[in-house]
Amino acid sequence: MTYIIAMDGPSGSGKSTLSEMLAEKLDIEYLNTGLMYRAVTKRFLDLGIGHEDGEIIKEELKDLTLSIENGKIYLNGEDVSKYLRSDDITKNVSWVSANKDVREKLVDLQRAIAKDTSFILDGRDIGTVVFPNAKYKFYITASSRIRALRRYKQNESDFDIDELEEAIIARDDYDSKREISPLKKADDAILIDNSNLSIDETIDLILKKMDQHAI
Ligand code: DC
Repeated sequence: MTYIIAMDGPSGSGKSTLSEMLAEKLDIEYLNTGLMYRAVTKRFLDLGIGHEDGEIIKEELKDLTLSIENGKIYLNGEDVSKYLRSDDITKNVSWVSANKDVREKLVDLQRAIAKDTSFILDGRDIGTVVFPNAKYKFYITASSRIRALRRYKQNESDFDIDELEEAIIARDDYDSKREISPLKKADDAILIDNSNLSIDETIDLILKKMDQHAI
């Protein structure tokens, strides 16, 4: 029997690292859905497409292909993985992921990818929209300061910690107030606040919760 683990939560909560490690431990597949939204954002920025270009976005989505192999993400056949964490993409991914046509396309793709295999997916709407019947649902969070600090340590941004925290608060606000599939804990998701937990402690806690919910 295959099963789905939904891992939702705001940026910097450690979802991706946790999901990758859990997938390895449980010997199941992992899909980082945030990277899919980031890849589409890269494409739109490359083409000079803005949030007001609704019709052009629809046309562009018709031909756009995305695939994921060995953790690398291919956009129209090109490996774009290394570009996806830039400040420019991070700044623009919120409006791209608030677009209804983009969401429709990526949600369909996510469901197709995880159809017949056990998967852990991380994102914002996995437990609420993409897989509302997921066997396990977690909502991972931490304080905005701690999340900014984690981003700072990743050393992928030109921002200082205060600027990173401001950007994180702004993005949380935008993601949780958007009309379609806002960032929101599913009613039946287990809340994990890991502000004061290490990655290993968080993994142990998640595994313990899964045991209590055993298949
Ligand atoms: O997890 P991340 O920071 O890489 O996600 C990038 C953006 O994509 C984030 O602003 C919210 C959006 N996103 C989303 O709307 N739905 C998802 N399932 C995953 C990400």
